[in-house]
Amino acid sequence: MGRSSKDKRDVYYRLAKEEGWRARSAFKLLQINEEFGIFKGVTKVVDLCAAPGSWSQVLSRKLRGNAENPEDVKIVAVDLQAMAPLPGVTQIQGDITKVSTAEEIISYFKGESADLVVCDGAPDVTGLHDLDEYIQAQLLLAALNITTHLLKKGGTFVAKIFRGKDVTLLYSQLKLFFKKVTVAKPRSSRNSSIEAFAVCEEYDPPEGYVPNMMNPLLDLQYDDFNQLTGVNRVIVPFIACGDLSAFDSDRTYPLQLKDAEDYVYHPPTQVPIDPPYKEAVLLKRQNKLSKPEVKVSQVTPNDSSACNTDELCFGKCDNATTDCENEELCTLEKLQLSDSNIENL
Ligand SMILES: C[S@@+](CC[C@H](N)C(=O)[O-])C[C@H]1O[C@@H](n2cnc3c(N)ncnc32)[C@H](O)[C@@H]1O
Repeated sequence: MGRSSKDKRDVYYRLAKEEGWRARSAFKLLQINEEFGIFKGVTKVVDLCAAPGSWSQVLSRKLRGNAENPEDVKIVAVDLQAMAPLPGVTQIQGDITKVSTAEEIISYFKGESADLVVCDGAPDVTGLHDLDEYIQAQLLLAALNITTHLLKKGGTFVAKIFRGKDVTLLYSQLKLFFKKVTVAKPRSSRNSSIEAFAVCEEYDPPEGYVPNMMNPLLDLQYDDFNQLTGVNRVIVPFIACGDLSAFDSDRTYPLQLKDAEDYVYHPPTQVPIDPPYKEAVLLKRQNKLSKPEVKVSQVTPNDSSACNTDELCFGKCDNATTDCENEELCTLEKLQLSDSNIENL
C-alpha cells in the first residue's frame, strides 16, 4: 500500500498535513467555530484532553493571531500524555478528573475564569461499543465537572459526545448548567462515526451550586431516560456544521485536488513524542512480543466497516457505528506501516 493511499481516502488527514495541523481534528474545531463563533471575545481558554495538540494549534493561531497583543491571550492545554510544545500554549500533563488539575489551571489564570473550555477527550477504545460509549460519557461528565471550576458565567463549553443510548441523560445534565445546548456534527467528522460535539453556550449554574468533582456521573439505575416525554425529556437541536462546499470526510478524493496543482506528499506535522505504546512497538520490532490470540484479518481500502486504516486490523473494530477515529486498536500493525498514529484523530 503506497503512502499516498491514506491521503486519497482521508482528505482531512491530507489537508491537516498540508496546512501544518498535528491532527485532522483541527478541522472539527474550525468548522464548529464557523457555525457558532465560539472564539469571539475569548482571551482565556482551556483545551482539555489536548494531545497531540491540533485544537491548541487552532486556538493559538485564531486567538493569538487576531489579538492586538498576543501575550494577553492565555491558553492552557491539559492531557494525560506529553505533548510537543506550541507557541503561546501552557501545558499541564494531568488528569481532568482530578481537582488538583483544576487548581493548577486556576492558579495559571491567577484566579480569573476562562471564557471558553473545549474538550475533545477520548478514552482508549475497547471495541465493546456499550463500554466505549459509557466511558466516553463519563469523560464528558468529568470534563463538565472540571469546567464548573473554571468557566465564567456566560462562557462556552464544547465537548465531544457519542450519540449513544445514554445521550439524553447527558443532554439533561448539560442543560442544568447551560442555557443553550446544541449538538454539532462538523463535516470533517465522519458520518459513519457516532461522534458529535455538544456546544453548550451561556454557562449559568444552578443558584448556590458549589463546583466539585463528585457529581453523580452516569448512574446505571436510570436506564429509561429515552422513554420520557414532553417537558420531562430534553431534546437538543442538531446542527451539521461546516460549509456545504467543505470536503466530505466519508468520500475518497483523487490525489490531484485542484487542476492547476500537482499532488505532493507531506509527512505528518508532529509525531507523538512519548506515546504509551512506545515500549510495545519496540518489543514488537525485536520480536519479543507474544502474539495476540485473535484472528488477524486483511482490511480492504474501501471497506466502510473498517476503522479508517489501510493496515491490518486485529478484527476488533469491525463495526463502523463506534468512533474509530480516535482509537489505537490496530496499533501495532498500523504503527509499523503508517507514518504516525495521529492520523485518525
Ligand atoms: C482524540 S485525542 C485529542 C485530540 C486533540 N484534540 C487534538 O486535536 O490533537 C484524546 C485525548 O484525550 C486524552 N485523555 C483521555 N482521558 C483523559 C483524562 N482523564 N485526562 C486528560 N486527558 C485525557 C488522551 O490522552 C488523548 O490524548
